[in-house]
Amino acid sequence: MSARLWVSHRQVDEHEIARPVLTRSTRRALLTLDVRASAMAREVRAGAHEPNDRTRRARRDPRHREESIQGATFRGPPTEERRTDMAQEPVVWDADPHTKAKHDLYRRYLDRWMPIMIRGAWKGDVTYAEGFSGPGVYADGSPGSPLIAFDTIRQDESLRARSVKKNVRMLFVEQRSDRCDRLREELAKRSHPLALDALPEKAGITVEIRQGSYDPTLVALLDEHRCWGKPILAVLDSWGGGVNIDLVQRIAKNPSSEVLITLQPQFFSRFADAPERKHGDAVFGHSRWRDVAKQPSHRKTRWLIERYRDTIHGAGFTHVLDFELVDHRGASLYLVFGTAHDKGLQKMKEAMWEVDPGYGSGYRDPRDPNQQTLLIEDRPQTHALRRLIRAHLEAQPARSATVHEICDFAFRKTIFKTAQASSVVKEMAEQGDVIRVRHPQRNLDVITLR
Ligand SMILES: C[S@@+](CC[C@H](N)C(=O)[O-])C[C@H]1O[C@@H](n2cnc3c(N)ncnc32)[C@H](O)[C@@H]1O
Repeated sequence: MSARLWVSHRQVDEHEIARPVLTRSTRRALLTLDVRASAMAREVRAGAHEPNDRTRRARRDPRHREESIQGATFRGPPTEERRTDMAQEPVVWDADPHTKAKHDLYRRYLDRWMPIMIRGAWKGDVTYAEGFSGPGVYADGSPGSPLIAFDTIRQDESLRARSVKKNVRMLFVEQRSDRCDRLREELAKRSHPLALDALPEKAGITVEIRQGSYDPTLVALLDEHRCWGKPILAVLDSWGGGVNIDLVQRIAKNPSSEVLITLQPQFFSRFADAPERKHGDAVFGHSRWRDVAKQPSHRKTRWLIERYRDTIHGAGFTHVLDFELVDHRGASLYLVFGTAHDKGLQKMKEAMWEVDPGYGSGYRDPRDPNQQTLLIEDRPQTHALRRLIRAHLEAQPARSATVHEICDFAFRKTIFKTAQASSVVKEMAEQGDVIRVRHPQRNLDVITLR
């Protein structure tokens, strides 16, 4: 069968997956577990974390209970009891609004990354890897991250044609065997009429799903597939507990490689004083993060985010783009992207600002002192950028900088794109907030705050 036949005859987006039904006994078990999430309970008892209404509502949500369970795995290897508890969780679950926005972001970034990697200098000898792949599908039938990645090639005829005779590796690790089975099933449907194991020869793509903990299974897979020395894009989308910094460091040292990590700083503020803190040491690469316990409660999250940004920089990524994806309920996901390339940073920002406004999500820039949430709209809001540019100019000698310097500041130190910065500078000059003059010797415009 020729690879040309490997065409998307069948769109496997049918809503054929039954929603999980929680039996009364499962619900009771989950509730008991929630109560048993001892670290959290300890903190609540100590009054360090007084849950607000939103938190209380969220805790009644089964997905939150699973997070608590995952949080409890920080205590070390799962006990038999915990293993049984985790096994009772449904294989697939509902997608949160911010999960949908996150997937849209992945899709838009991969739509840029994959063609560059397949058509560019690396000629498709590249790896897309996930450490926490999940089952590949959500309760409403929408695809999870592994299927989104696979589709970037499958749905693009010219990429499909080019990937033949190449060696694109797609490696997935998932702890639960039932989720691995489901992912295999979903990817096989996607790959139809080619069998998954025919893909390397017929489509130039190697897909492997392996059950195990991301550490050490992901590195083992990367070793076996000889991925080192060539680009790796690693998506490490845990429930928020983070990943061991050793893995991030290895990826940072590898050429043209990038990480996209999901983190829930709240987990770490809960565990700073608990036996689980060793897990935090492995994630942050040091024990100084434990000082979060000394921070006032309104500062804890931001403080941890700053430490984590330093950790990812320290691992070897010259650019770290981190932001919170906030949904209409106010729930947020903290995403961290590490790259050593301007182009990677630029493509990720383009992807960010193209996320479909229909998901009702927005971004919060952890570097913004006002912590303003910026809705993703057809015309992105730039008042926060204006504020950041003002603050930047105030910190400069003579309150001046060139347009190029301001754009570079926005590119490297905020979540905004260069193009957004240059239009904000133009707007500020038109409205008289700044004076724009041509530098007499250097062929460039200098902006001075009035
Ligand atoms: C947030 S979900 C992943 C969702 C997926 N990336 C997506 O967007 O469709 C996290 C997954 O990681 C799995 N998991 C939890 N701990 C793990 C570990 N230590 N190693 C590998 N997988 C793990 C869970 O079973 C769950 O399926």
